[in-house]
Amino acid sequence: MAASTIHGRHHTGHNEGLQATQLSRDLGQIAELIELCFSAQMDAGGRSAVREMKMLSSLGPLLWPLTLFNGTAFGLGLGYVWREGGRVIGNVSLYRGGRHPWLGPGFLIANVAVLPEYRRRGIARAMMIETLRLAQQKQGRWVSLQVEADNAGAIALYRELGFEQLETISQWTTGYFRPTVLPTPHDEWPVRIRRRGEVDAEMDLIYNRARVGAIAWTRPIAQGAVQEMASNVLLGTNKEHWGVFDPDDGGRLLGVLWIDVINWVSVRLTLFFDPALEDPNGRRALLSRTLRLAHLQGRRIQIETAAHDDPVDEVLISNGFRKVRTLVLMRKQLED
Ligand SMILES: CC(C)(COP(=O)(O)OP(=O)(O)OC[C@H]1O[C@@H](n2cnc3c(N)ncnc32)[C@H](O)[C@@H]1OP(=O)(O)O)[C@@H](O)C(=O)NCCC(=O)NCCS
Repeated sequence: MAASTIHGRHHTGHNEGLQATQLSRDLGQIAELIELCFSAQMDAGGRSAVREMKMLSSLGPLLWPLTLFNGTAFGLGLGYVWREGGRVIGNVSLYRGGRHPWLGPGFLIANVAVLPEYRRRGIARAMMIETLRLAQQKQGRWVSLQVEADNAGAIALYRELGFEQLETISQWTTGYFRPTVLPTPHDEWPVRIRRRGEVDAEMDLIYNRARVGAIAWTRPIAQGAVQEMASNVLLGTNKEHWGVFDPDDGGRLLGVLWIDVINWVSVRLTLFFDPALEDPNGRRALLSRTLRLAHLQGRRIQIETAAHDDPVDEVLISNGFRKVRTLVLMRKQLED
């Protein structure tokens, strides 16, 4: 088939062209495709997901039920591949994204990839159109994805399909965190653990005001996630929500930092700010105060923040953080 004739919905002969993903047939080849198309930007998590996919495909489907339940590959069961000459040359994966408190249930799209020699023939577009249709059939109300900010080609494709840009976020990381000089605390700005009675204020900040509210795409934020604060001494895990409060306006919540101690080694931080917080010291205070906490010292810290927030970037850089990537979050709402 001349690939230039691809228009939207196009199913070709047996096991060729656009095909609903069949893990038992496609998993190993999807892993190879992802590895080839994303090798430059893949982090440790991505590499381990690819290893897991290859391992599963070599085991064969009969053994999958033993391993799949906690695997990344599990989500790959939904989506579309494009096959040419018996080989997977394109892939789009669809994952369940959870329930957004106002938009309802939704999906995440990931692993959009076409082999270099098959690009610009409409293959990604055709797979995306069919994947969006599938999300709609499964009662999804929205679909989100993230793309590297400098990937103009992919961003053009998603825009053409009706995705809107919600936010640009940066991901930063440290080695084992040991600041030589502790950050200035900026004591004029009250910073403390958020109280139980302030859950609604936090929800309102994250969903209605914060620039990175859209972060909900990766970890759709249900009310439960906002309420959740728990620690497990044995596992070394701990979740805390810290806030920075307006010293004048009756202690209004202006920023939230989620501290998620994942294990003895790693901590994930997520920072949300009300744009009304303009004072650079107010923006620095939350991070400067929490980076002094004993349980962050000596751990590897990852943080997600709205991109290009100068006061925050300054605190991160002066404390030895390194910017890993900048991502654009995009979402399309699906019709009834
Ligand atoms: C992004 C990618 C999946 C696109 O696949 P593709 O099959 O070449 O895309 P299509 O041919 O369906 O393109 C559809 C439209 O998207 C836009 N587009 C796609 N690639 C583009 C590029 N490199 N530059 C500019 N526009 C591009 C164009 O508008 C194109 O329409 P046109 O060819 O009529 O101008 C492919 O380039 C790829 O695998 N890249 C590496 C992995 C990656 O970056 N994936 C996205 C991660 S979020």
